[in-house]
Amino acid sequence: MDGNGRWAKKRSLNRIRGHREGAESVRDIVRACREIGIEVLTLYAFSTENWQRPKQEILALMKLLKDFLRSELSEMMENDIRLNAIGQVGRFPGDVLKVLRGVMDKTQENSGMLLNLALSYGGRDEIVMAAGRIAAEVRAGQLEPKEITEKVFSNYLYTQGMPDPDLLIRTSGEMRVSNFLLWQIAYAEIYVTKTLWPDFRREELSRILHDYEKRERRFGTTGEQVKK
Ligand code: IPE
Ligand code: MG
Repeated sequence: MDGNGRWAKKRSLNRIRGHREGAESVRDIVRACREIGIEVLTLYAFSTENWQRPKQEILALMKLLKDFLRSELSEMMENDIRLNAIGQVGRFPGDVLKVLRGVMDKTQENSGMLLNLALSYGGRDEIVMAAGRIAAEVRAGQLEPKEITEKVFSNYLYTQGMPDPDLLIRTSGEMRVSNFLLWQIAYAEIYVTKTLWPDFRREELSRILHDYEKRERRFGTTGEQVKK
């Protein structure tokens, strides 16, 4: 979800206003995905690198997150949406964490869609964390090095048990991955749109999904093999 700052700048507004409008896009996209029947939606809301932003901006983002979680709980319940967070959530302030954990607990039996928020998330950080946990288990004699397959490794990531993403959408035209789900996007289809996140709404999502449907996913095989 990129481009909130630029959206605000274009209108001579404070960056925080861009984040606020971006939260409206989150509401619209979450609703649309649920209606379409998307099983897992992961939103990159705050990266490990975002901690380097000005303190005021971080505080405003925390407040927005808290307000979002509070205001959306009833709708998540109505629409059978389960909330989960991936990342070093322990770095978040206690009050935010409390609301986050509360919403995760209350929605944990919901099964219509999984809404995954990447919070204080970094792909490299996640891989290093997984490697550390695996090393500890090997040292404790609970795991043999030869047992470490791709499937086993992925169980040590924040996304354990979740399917790899089929489609990665990046807004604001930036042609980079920015440390997002590095392991999981190995075969994801990528779509970059110039639209700034606050302007990204369901109409464009649906156009992108139609584009995605036309793609041939070969996973390293040949086009002929896929058609069989
Ligand atoms: C994305 O918008 C929101 C977060 C990272 C929280 P940006 O704040 O990165 O917007 P730009 O890149 O400055 O336009
Ligand atoms: Mg940005």
